[in-house]
Amino acid sequence: MNTPLKITGKTGVCGVIGDPVGHTVSPAMHNAAFSALGLNFVYMPFRVPKKDLADAVQGMRALNIRGLNVTIPHKVEVMALLDEIEPSARAIGAVNVIVNDKGLLKGCNTDAPGFMRALKERGIKVKGRTVVILGAGGASRAICFALASGGAGLIILNRTPGRASQYAADITKATGQTVEAMPLNPQNLAVAMEKGRILVNTTSVGMSPEASETLVKSDIIKPQHTVVDIVYNPVKTRLLKDAEKAGAGTINGLDMLVWQGALAFEKWTGHRAPVEIMRKEALRALKGI
Ligand SMILES: NC(=O)c1ccc[n+]([C@@H]2O[C@H](COP(=O)([O-])OP(=O)(O)OC[C@H]3O[C@@H](n4cnc5c(N)ncnc54)[C@H](OP(=O)(O)O)[C@@H]3O)[C@@H](O)[C@H]2O)c1
Repeated sequence: MNTPLKITGKTGVCGVIGDPVGHTVSPAMHNAAFSALGLNFVYMPFRVPKKDLADAVQGMRALNIRGLNVTIPHKVEVMALLDEIEPSARAIGAVNVIVNDKGLLKGCNTDAPGFMRALKERGIKVKGRTVVILGAGGASRAICFALASGGAGLIILNRTPGRASQYAADITKATGQTVEAMPLNPQNLAVAMEKGRILVNTTSVGMSPEASETLVKSDIIKPQHTVVDIVYNPVKTRLLKDAEKAGAGTINGLDMLVWQGALAFEKWTGHRAPVEIMRKEALRALKGI
């Protein structure tokens, strides 16, 4: 049983800034983790519209907020407002975590290592393998950098092909890995799946309320594939159900969500995150959405 949260004069404050934030499961996940470890911290949601981002970051300094998660639409714009950016977050071009060390604000990216950790925990190796990526949005960029830095070759397919080509050029330049870009259509996807061992859906297709949608025809998924869907609502998407039926391995978006949170928690508190408690609370919060 977790100890109930008790706010005192010494309580450390963490939170998330974004717009919207009403759907976030991070408060449930982090408050349960603080409580489980008996840490005197609290985690709050802060809805911050774009026009107020600079004031919110200044407020973090003024109020001595220890840590913030940064979510849509601020992950790129926030970088210019911080004192330091970790090299990996700089390469990705996005920050999802801020650590406040006595007024010095450091921007980090835990989406990328969180994704890699989710794969590692399931025994999936990427070095020397080809990974097929659906989508070239914000999450895709972090994931592509992480995979290429881990030694994977990539095939990126996107509805808007120009974004995939741009990512391919940036990632090849930064990591030296082979990265192909293709327009997203059934023919290209079938060819890519013959070359790739791992498929990652980074698009929002399949997300509730359109949970019956998928970009992947089930007959191109084979037992030798591992299919990762970063959509976490629902936890088991149509794509993952089809992959299971095809005998492929599957990894859901909750794993990445929990690991990016766990790595942020460790940066703010210096304590090892209670990952299983965070997973349980995130799942419980998702069921309540
Ligand atoms: N598990 C986690 O921890 C985690 C972390 C971050 C994000 N996510 C999830 O990942 C998803 C994407 O987030 P994001 O921040 O990367 O969003 P984003 O920057 O808006 O990118 C969305 C991507 O999806 C593509 N897309 C959207 N609708 C499509 C459709 N009908 N057909 C084909 N492609 C379509 C877009 O293609 P175009 O470029 O052509 O528009 C783009 O590549 C969301 O569901 C989000 O909840 C999960």
